[in-house]
Amino acid sequence: MSAIAPSRSTISTTGKNANRKSSDIATAVAAKLKRSTNPTANPTARVSAAKGSSRGVATVAIRGGRTPDATTGAILTPICQSTTYVQAAVGKHKGHTYSRASNPTVEALELALAALECREDRECRATCYATGMAAITTLCLATLKAGDHVVLSNVLYGGTVRLATEILEPLGVRVTFVDATVPRNVERAIGRDTKLVFIETPANPTLVLTDISAIASITRAKGVRLAVDNTFLTPVVLRPLERGADVSVYSTTKYIEGHNATVGGSIVTRDPLLDERLRRIRKTIGCIQAPFEAWLTLRGLKTLPLRIREHSRSAQIVAEWLADHSLVANVSYPGLHRFPQRELALRQHRDDTGSCCHGGIVSFELIGGEPAGRTLMESVRLCSLAENLGAAETLITHPVSMTHGDVPRRQREATGITDGLVRLSVGLEDVRDIIDDLSQALDTVARTVASRA
Ligand SMILES: Cc1ncc(COP(=O)(O)O)c(C=O)c1O
Repeated sequence: MSAIAPSRSTISTTGKNANRKSSDIATAVAAKLKRSTNPTANPTARVSAAKGSSRGVATVAIRGGRTPDATTGAILTPICQSTTYVQAAVGKHKGHTYSRASNPTVEALELALAALECREDRECRATCYATGMAAITTLCLATLKAGDHVVLSNVLYGGTVRLATEILEPLGVRVTFVDATVPRNVERAIGRDTKLVFIETPANPTLVLTDISAIASITRAKGVRLAVDNTFLTPVVLRPLERGADVSVYSTTKYIEGHNATVGGSIVTRDPLLDERLRRIRKTIGCIQAPFEAWLTLRGLKTLPLRIREHSRSAQIVAEWLADHSLVANVSYPGLHRFPQRELALRQHRDDTGSCCHGGIVSFELIGGEPAGRTLMESVRLCSLAENLGAAETLITHPVSMTHGDVPRRQREATGITDGLVRLSVGLEDVRDIIDDLSQALDTVARTVASRA
């Protein structure tokens, strides 16, 4: 099946284009927009002629990999709750046997995610899991065994660190954390037994970036697999496989579903043997995503490009506002001019319009350190103090006591995950309301500091 469902419509700018291929038309529209004096004022400026892709990311997010239901014509993939599929004869079935192995609704999400990551590349496959951590665990089981070595970046989601130190290491896998912002560190860490390099960019929660192309040229040369956790940016802004990675990993719980309504995970790869192994392990350990969760994720996916652009726009405004606030010691956001890896951010983060956006996560520290950060988090009224990120509601998180509580203190301190670090997942509310809320909470911090003095 083609990764992109056939469409009868094409973009027509002159009425003469009915028989032109959509890629030619997208190219013509993009050229026209380039000539325009103020392309950003033109709403069709979002149409792009991205190389190798005839359709833009918004179209692929809505249509990619989907076909109307063959039985009813339903435009939305139905939720198939059945665990069991009747077989016409022994060994003769319609592709599904038991929903621990595969399920039609989960499969529909897999086709849609593969289309979004790889557009029309039919070699590209996605598998979906009960959670992001189930996806990462399955990847590790598929690529590592006792005696093997894995290299991970030293800033990662806390659950991934826990998986490495509390599960993989006791099973006999050697684990090395490195500062992957310096590619040479990764190169030096790779040894004869290294089977996997696992990085996360931007990293949770400090937002440090890792240069995927630079690391991929090292792992390729050494014959080691490179996996990238791309949860923060999603394929709308960053497609790791295009930059040489072997595997893209997602917690779909975050932006991809985007509504604080599901937990889920996904792995995308062009390696058919790895994909087959992942499916076999998933079937064996029983960590496939549930059909209703897959259906909700398919629905969320349709608005992902719209949401990511809006999250990014608001996060940029919030980050700039925080950077100017007298109580804020430092702000980390790749969209800020003074972001230390600004050049890499501009090179690595690109949406379909060719412009940059950097996602919705901002992290910062207050001048009063941990007590001030705690007062802020307990004083917000609109923003919610919670563990998740990537959804419509703005969430504020204290990584040290919440998401990264299990990362050893020494590793936290060495990598900038300080006790006073605050992580903000900028939501889709009106940005002035988010800033008003932060402003009143920072006023409370100032009063508290003054009363203690
Ligand atoms: C970057 C990243 N990867 C993976 C995960 C794990 O995902 P899940 O919570 O869906 O298991 C998280 C969770 O916060 C995350 O932030």
